[in-house]
Amino acid sequence: MKRNFAFAVVAILSSFLVFAFTFDHGTSSAEMAMGKFKIPKKVNAVIQDKCYGCHNPNARGDKSKAKLDWDGLAGLSMADQAMKMKDIAKVLEEGSMPPKMFLDRSPDKKLTDSETALLSKWANKMAGKLSK
Ligand code: HEC
Repeated sequence: MKRNFAFAVVAILSSFLVFAFTFDHGTSSAEMAMGKFKIPKKVNAVIQDKCYGCHNPNARGDKSKAKLDWDGLAGLSMADQAMKMKDIAKVLEEGSMPPKMFLDRSPDKKLTDSETALLSKWANKMAGKLSK
């Protein structure tokens, strides 16, 4: 009887520890990342129009999904978010997104100079914030 009781106490304590550890770990890092990760409305409008079609969980291209998924960004660790922001700043600087082949068919999806400037400024600012 005593043994069973001790066993039950150990079992409850250890499951609590496992729960506390995994639970706390999961939420705190996500919360911290969420707190800093913000997409202003104006930036989001450009992203929705010119980027989201290929970079979302249901996009047709596996490559574009794997490289960048806007819906998944907020759930990444801060370090990973910072890395994505740097990738975004880089493609904007290079002018490589949306891809040329796609723009040949849909020239209206090309970023204007002011849209590029807006996204670049945001991505660089976020990269700096998230790296702190
Ligand atoms: C027509 C589809 C399409 C659109 C629209 C598009 N992308 Fe991409 N994107 C891709 C593909 C495909 C890749 C993968 C390219 C590769 O790996 O060679 C990619 C890769 C990327 C990468 C990763 C680059 C790297 O070097 O790892 C970033 C960042 C990115 N896109 C940002 C953007 C942004 C920002 C926009 C909007 C301005 C955008 N994309 C619009 C298809 C698209």
